Parts: sequence; C-alpha cells; structure tokens
Amino acid sequence: MLAYRHQFHAGNFADAFKHALLAQLVLALTRKDKPFFCLDTHAGIAHYDLQHEWTQKNAEYKNGIGLLWERKDAPSELAPYLDAVRAENPDGRLRYYPGSPRIIRRLLRSKDRMTLIELNKKDCESLVTQYARDRRVTVQCVDGYQALKAHLPPQERRGLVFIDSSFDRAREFQRLTQGLVAAHKKFSTGVYALWYPLMEPAAMGGFERGIVATGIRRILQMEVAIHPDDWMMSVRGCGLLVVNPPFGFEPVARTIVDWLWPVLSEAGAGYRKTAWLVPE
Ligand SMILES: C[S@@+](CC[C@H](N)C(=O)[O-])C[C@H]1O[C@@H](n2cnc3c(N)ncnc32)[C@H](O)[C@@H]1O
Repeated sequence: MLAYRHQFHAGNFADAFKHALLAQLVLALTRKDKPFFCLDTHAGIAHYDLQHEWTQKNAEYKNGIGLLWERKDAPSELAPYLDAVRAENPDGRLRYYPGSPRIIRRLLRSKDRMTLIELNKKDCESLVTQYARDRRVTVQCVDGYQALKAHLPPQERRGLVFIDSSFDRAREFQRLTQGLVAAHKKFSTGVYALWYPLMEPAAMGGFERGIVATGIRRILQMEVAIHPDDWMMSVRGCGLLVVNPPFGFEPVARTIVDWLWPVLSEAGAGYRKTAWLVPE
C-alpha cells in the first residue's frame, strides 16, 4: 500500500499549474483530425471532494484553485482548465475538483483513447469503477514506469504521456529521467509532460543536467515558485517539462504561467519561468 494519497493535496497550487497546462496540451492534440492516445501514468482518483476530511486537514486548495475560482480576469488560455473545474460544480460553488483523468477525458473526441495507470490499489479500484462503461478509457493497477514500456508506441502514433509522480520515494528524479529515456526510445514523436516539485537547488541542477544529458531535444520547461528559495515548510514550487510541445503551445504556456504566478505566490515571492531547457 502506498502512503501518498492525492486527496490531501487536491486542487493545490501545483494542481492548478499542472492542470492548466495539461488541458492546453490535450486541446492542442485535438486540432489535428487524426486520433490520439493519452497515457496518464500516475492517475490518482480523478474526482476529489474538497470537503473530504483529508482535504480539509490542510485545505491546500485554498491556495490553489481557491485563489482562481472567483477571478474574473483569467486569460482565455486558462478556460479549458477552469471549464473542467466548473463542470464539476454546476451550482457555481467550489466543492469538487477534477483530477488529471477527468481533465483529459472531457477533451477527448470519440476516436481518441486514454489509459490510466494507478498503483494504489484502492485509488485504482475507484478509477476502474468510474470508467467501467467508458469504451475510450482503460484502467490498469500497475506501476506507471512499467506501463510506459507496455503501452508505447500507441497504435495511433500520436499521443500525450503525462507523468505526475507523487515523489514520495528516494531517487524519483532519476526514475523520471530513466522513464523518459525508455519511453522516448519507443515513441520519439510523442508529447511528454513530466511534473516535478522544486527541491533544493543542488537537486534541481542535477535533475536538469541529467535531462540535458539524455540527448532528447525540444524540451520546454515551465516553473512556478510561490515561496522564497530558502522556504522549508512545504514544497516551494513545481515545474513541468514538456517534450515535443505541440505547435503554438509555448506562448500559451507563457501566458498561463505569467498570469498564475502572481496569483498563486506568497506576496510576490519566488519566480516563474517558461524557457527551452533543450531547444530544437
Ligand atoms: C500526484 S498524484 C496524481 C495526481 C493526478 N495525476 C492528477 O493530476 O489528478 C500521484 C499518484 O501516483 C500514484 N503512484 C505512486 N507511485 C506510483 C507508481 N509507481 N505507478 C503508478 N502510480 C503511482 C499515487 O498513488 C498517486 O495517486
């Protein structure tokens, strides 16, 4: 049994950041007629009640979606994400939060498909129940990194792989880098989105050098830090690496990140970034 449960963190600043970018990646794939495949390797439970006692414990959503929910000035680039949250809350009051499976699923067309991987048995069973009647969705209760090998390349030859690890084990940055290399070898044209928390600067430098050393090209990096560099109380920020970002994604991502950072950050602390870690 894994200790991490996303219910404790649902809707926090990291979710708002990753889900706003994720929705735009999926939307970009729908712009071409050909079907595509999405692989969500660390899927969580897809649907979160923000009133659940686990979520209420630290109420992290108040510093995430809670800061965005009432805003009237969000740029249109945020709309696919905010629409997904609104769809969970048709009465206009923020109570439920969609996880990555639901954010992806609502953008799929009838010809597209998605596979969800979740290692936590209970969480996975919940996904199996939710998607039992959905022919576009397959759920597997296995290791996300193993799933990369098993499901790639997809028959569609177009697709998005979202790797959103809970980072609750040592050496996760290495595992993430190795997972990307193995997946990219099998499916080099795929779009990959890798989420990571900001840890101490030495660890982040090592991660970036490791990614650059893989030789994989076209890697766009987005980060938001919402606390100062020396913050020790909780995760100070997070990032998303996107390999092979779809045409037009970079300016959209920059708009999202530039708008989100001052809204989410503590009194202007931290920084935001949208830049190529590895260009063409
Ligand atoms: C950050 S949460 C996922 C949140 C989800 N992607 C979302 O955006 O709504 C990480 C999830 O990965 C699961 N997990 C941890 N290790 C895993 C592994 N090796 N393979 C698959 N899932 C794993 C955890 O149980 C947890 O539900």
